[in-house]
Amino acid sequence: MAKILFFSVTVFTSIFPASTSGSARLDQGFRQCFQAILGNNTTSEVTFSKSSSSYEPLLNSSIRNARFLSSSVPKPDLIVTPQSLFHIQVALLCSKENNLEVRVRSGGHDYEGLSYVSHVPFVIIDLINLRSITINMDEESAWVQSGATVGELYYAIAHKSKVHGFPAGSCSTMGVGGHFSGGGFGTIFRKYGLASDNVIDAQIIDVNGKILNRTLMGEDLFWAIRGGGGSSFGVITAWKIKLVRVPSTVTVFDVSRSLEQGATDLFHKWEIVAPKLPAELFLHVVVGVSNSGSQGGKTVVVSFTGLYLGTAQNLLPLMQNSFSELGLQRNNFTQMTWIQSVLYFAGHSINELEVLLRRNQTSSSFKAKSDFVKEPIPLVGLEGLWNMLLLENSPLLIFTPYGGKMSEISESETPFPHRKGNLYGIQYSVNLGSKEEAPKHLYWIRRLYEYMAPYVSKLPRQSYLNYRDLDLGVNQRKMDYETAKSWGLKYFNKNFERLTQVKARVDPGNFFRDEQSIPPL
Ligand SMILES: Cc1cc2nc3c(=O)[nH]c(=O)nc-3n(C[C@H](O)[C@H](O)[C@H](O)COP(=O)(O)OP(=O)(O)OC[C@H]3O[C@@H](n4cnc5c(N)ncnc54)[C@H](O)[C@@H]3O)c2cc1C
Ligand SMILES: *[C@@H]1O[C@H](CO)[C@@H](O)[C@H](O)[C@H]1NC(C)=O
Ligand SMILES: *[C@@H]1O[C@H](CO)[C@@H](O)[C@H](O)[C@H]1NC(C)=O
Ligand SMILES: *[C@@H]1O[C@H](CO)[C@@H](O)[C@H](O)[C@H]1NC(C)=O
Ligand SMILES: *[C@@H]1O[C@H](CO)[C@@H](O)[C@H](O)[C@H]1NC(C)=O
Ligand SMILES: *[C@@H]1O[C@H](CO)[C@@H](O)[C@H](O)[C@H]1NC(C)=O
Ligand SMILES: *[C@@H]1O[C@H](CO)[C@@H](O)[C@H](O)[C@H]1NC(C)=O
Repeated sequence: MAKILFFSVTVFTSIFPASTSGSARLDQGFRQCFQAILGNNTTSEVTFSKSSSSYEPLLNSSIRNARFLSSSVPKPDLIVTPQSLFHIQVALLCSKENNLEVRVRSGGHDYEGLSYVSHVPFVIIDLINLRSITINMDEESAWVQSGATVGELYYAIAHKSKVHGFPAGSCSTMGVGGHFSGGGFGTIFRKYGLASDNVIDAQIIDVNGKILNRTLMGEDLFWAIRGGGGSSFGVITAWKIKLVRVPSTVTVFDVSRSLEQGATDLFHKWEIVAPKLPAELFLHVVVGVSNSGSQGGKTVVVSFTGLYLGTAQNLLPLMQNSFSELGLQRNNFTQMTWIQSVLYFAGHSINELEVLLRRNQTSSSFKAKSDFVKEPIPLVGLEGLWNMLLLENSPLLIFTPYGGKMSEISESETPFPHRKGNLYGIQYSVNLGSKEEAPKHLYWIRRLYEYMAPYVSKLPRQSYLNYRDLDLGVNQRKMDYETAKSWGLKYFNKNFERLTQVKARVDPGNFFRDEQSIPPL
């Protein structure tokens, strides 16, 4: 039935003709279209317009940057919560017929809110109801639907096996739809690579409403959605992933030092050591400011947090030989299971596994940016960086060491190009506070980014797609390939060109688009 429907659709032309005043008509048109195919009951169960009492709680439910909760942010004409793939096909069809743009939302963690904010009339296809996880222990694989969170996935794996895991990010409420399609790194990525490096099949609904698996979509589209972002290519409905084997005991530790306690020299040593440590050892650095400095003054605090895939006994000589300056001893280490380490890095109590199933989460209003570093930052550069941090109330920087498996995968294997030659990645973020205060903090983080230019990757200065940053540039209404290059080369480097070719083949009319989607070449 679905196929017949899609073949009869007239070719969709433009997504910009509708004016906001025509919004109510578009919303009605969409619902009538939906009703005509699926009946009134299904329509009222899965489509919500602004007049519905479920609309606002549903919209708010997975907004993970409070900056985009505000009433001045444009809202969707409708939210659709499909319960089946057919509902997605119909939603795409009815959006086209009514000139509504589509935004697909899985976990809603997009830093710039692109999965639920648009400035033209639009529909959110929210995959909250499509979140089944099917694990095949014989094959050491799993199919996971896009609306599942990484927390639900980790929980499901741990429920089946104590010695299997999956290499994705730490924040348990992230959706696998957005997270895997943009890469996805976490505490075991130096050993196993990104989440997207461990995807072995996928299911996507394309612009014509066709449901495709890896064989049917072809290797170029399968390549594109493993790091090129999902939002340019279709609605990814499920991933098949390869589980990885983890030891039954892992070890964690955490050391914090302020400037007065020698943090600068330790950090400088870390820059040189961390990317070269064995792949089993992940040692990242979180930097913030606190009032614990001398005479109660403000100081920078640098925290070194580690995860070792092995026992404390084996970790001890490793740390003493490579980084004795941290002064770690056996009693500074805590052994636990891999799933407990997931809770530890997500900031939860390690004995409450069910927390991983919670989808509700409060979020602050923030702005973030990213960089990659290829040569250690000299001490003078670090001192300037700390001085910048001391100007701000709540800066948070995370430094993630690369190396290990990440250096073994070629830059063109997937669209994610940040491989060999990178020492570490940086995420800068700042709490924006109230609407009145926000401009001051935005100004600060943009200045920080300028300050860092001499110390980070150049030509292009590279950025991580999953830390989306609209300061890098946005698509113009009339598709502008040159504009798209400004952010495209930063996120994808040499892979950008190939992404535009894939886009031209699978969505030449540019139906799936947003501020930073791939333009068709
Ligand atoms: C608190 C927090 C912590 C984070 N920690 C990490 C981390 O440890 N490691 C890391 O790598 N990243 C991290 N991120 C970034 C995260 O990987 C990205 O924000 C990711 O895109 C989130 O996916 P999502 O499904 O939750 O987001 P969404 O906002 O739902 O989607 C993000 C983008 O993908 C598109 N998309 C979503 N689902 C689909 C789909 N099914 N088909 C097609 N397109 C789709 C959306 O339209 C949007 O463009 C973090 C983000 C936050 C807010
Ligand atoms: C659906 O509802 C509309 C009014 O909302 C009504 O006109 C129509 O007959 C109903 N259709 C069915 C199949 O019940
Ligand atoms: C639609 O919903 C009504 C009221 O809940 C119910 O009585 C009816 O059987 C449903 N119709 C279908 C086709 O499911
Ligand atoms: C949604 O968020 C807005 C902004 O914070 C708030 O005013 C509103 O009350 C929220 N609505 C619901 C139903 O939570
Ligand atoms: C993909 O789908 C086709 C058609 O349904 C099927 O023949 C093929 O086996 C599937 N491929 C995989 C890898 O599942
Ligand atoms: C390691 O443990 C010792 C003894 O308990 C303690 O004094 C020291 O502060 C710890 N070191 C770190 C880096 O936490
Ligand atoms: C989320 O829900 C749980 C269980 O209902 C509750 O205990 C927790 O406080 C909620 N968290 C937030 C951030 O709302």
